[in-house]
Amino acid sequence: MAKEVIKIGMLGMGTVGSGVASIILNDSAMLQERTGMEIQLKRVLVRDVNRRRAVDLPSEAYTTAAEDILGDPSINLVLELMGGIEPARSYIAAALERGKYVVTANKDLMALHGQELLELARRHNRDIFYEASVGGGIPLIRPLKQSLLANHISRIAGIINGTTNYILTRMDQDNMTLDEALAKARSLGFAEADPSNDLEGRDAAYKLAILAGLAFHRRISLQQIHVEGIGGVTREDIHYARELGYTIKLLALGEQLPAGLGLRVHPALVPLEHPLASVLNEFNAVFVEGDAAGEVMFYGRGAGSLPTASSVLADVLEVGRCLRCPVENGVPENSHKEATVLPMDVLVSSFYLRLQVQDRPGVFAALANAFGDEQVSLGLIMQKRSEKGIAEIVLVTHDVVEERFRRALQRIMKHPAVQPGHSVFRVLS
Ligand code: NAP
Ligand code: HSE
Repeated sequence: MAKEVIKIGMLGMGTVGSGVASIILNDSAMLQERTGMEIQLKRVLVRDVNRRRAVDLPSEAYTTAAEDILGDPSINLVLELMGGIEPARSYIAAALERGKYVVTANKDLMALHGQELLELARRHNRDIFYEASVGGGIPLIRPLKQSLLANHISRIAGIINGTTNYILTRMDQDNMTLDEALAKARSLGFAEADPSNDLEGRDAAYKLAILAGLAFHRRISLQQIHVEGIGGVTREDIHYARELGYTIKLLALGEQLPAGLGLRVHPALVPLEHPLASVLNEFNAVFVEGDAAGEVMFYGRGAGSLPTASSVLADVLEVGRCLRCPVENGVPENSHKEATVLPMDVLVSSFYLRLQVQDRPGVFAALANAFGDEQVSLGLIMQKRSEKGIAEIVLVTHDVVEERFRRALQRIMKHPAVQPGHSVFRVLS
């Protein structure tokens, strides 16, 4: 019976596609036993059919014509593993319109067009599964969508970009500069050819948009997320942070606050005793706080061929269940409401500040006055060293509304003794 076969058309056969194909070919008995259905990889769309692939498929499996997959009525599942927005978006839409289920690993597409595609899926009584789009091999989407559904989630805090976590780890542990650590990440194949989305925080913002939408049951657009990358993190800051009992991580933070959501991606000081501080190298982790479950942390490989394929195949097996036992459950994401997202100015954080000043009387007092007038309370202040009449001051504030801290900082930076160039990072509390 055709219904007993998951017949797959796969769009893309790169890093992730090869991992998926190798598991389907090498572990078909296990997959069949787990789903009760045969899984066939029927056609694969690529740009270049002559390219050597990591997995051997019969040459007739490859095509450069998407219609060979989208127009094939025997294919009931399309795996979109090509990446990018177009033509992936149009292909997914066409697959849904022709009654096929869709599994994708494409975070950019799900963050930017997920709502419209999920709405289309509902209209055609199909679904899109996207476990691999965030955190590679770490189960995150299904836990948020299902396992933690009975919670009010107050916060998600994640390290969800492997490239930047690798870079920050090398800067911390091996005293490398950012450029040296990036070169090392490249040589090991972690960093993409163009790593700007990773370094500038956009990759993490795409992933946060997806996770926060599920955690808070809201429609979240990328423009609502405040994004800062790791370009301003120096070895000096990492060194001082460690001296103070912190490490620096690129965090993706989503918080449910009384007036709305706080959504941000930025480097932050993380206390060394916090579980996220021990997430090193290219590993990812997401820390979730629910009112019933309490604190839950997910940890693992956020990218890579087999880890990501593991998540894709979990979705394939889920599609198997949908095909065998079709139920009218709708698409849960379609019930998400519009999000009210708060501007950064009103969010509360503690801040780390490092600045250089002329080493002369009255400078500390001027700092204290500027902070005092804005009711910014200092948790710690120290003068680190004085060379050629220039002293370095490092301080950490108590929690304060961001607008107040920024106003005080503006005043401080205008003081004649303060030298140009300073570092500011928020501190995870
Ligand atoms: P990749 O290695 O660059 O592979 C992309 C594949 O898609 C290639 O086989 C390419 O064909 C094919 N392709 C691209 N554009 C095409 C087009 N217009 N027409 C036909 N074929 C096209 O990418 P990847 O690393 O596997 O990533 C795939 C998706 O998974 C992306 O959305 C990515 O963000 C996501 N993801 C990746 C990872 C990871 O660890 N790599 C982790 C999580 C999520 P050719 O081979 O002929 O060029
Ligand atoms: N560039 C991403 C990262 C790959 O470094 O985490 C996984 O999405």
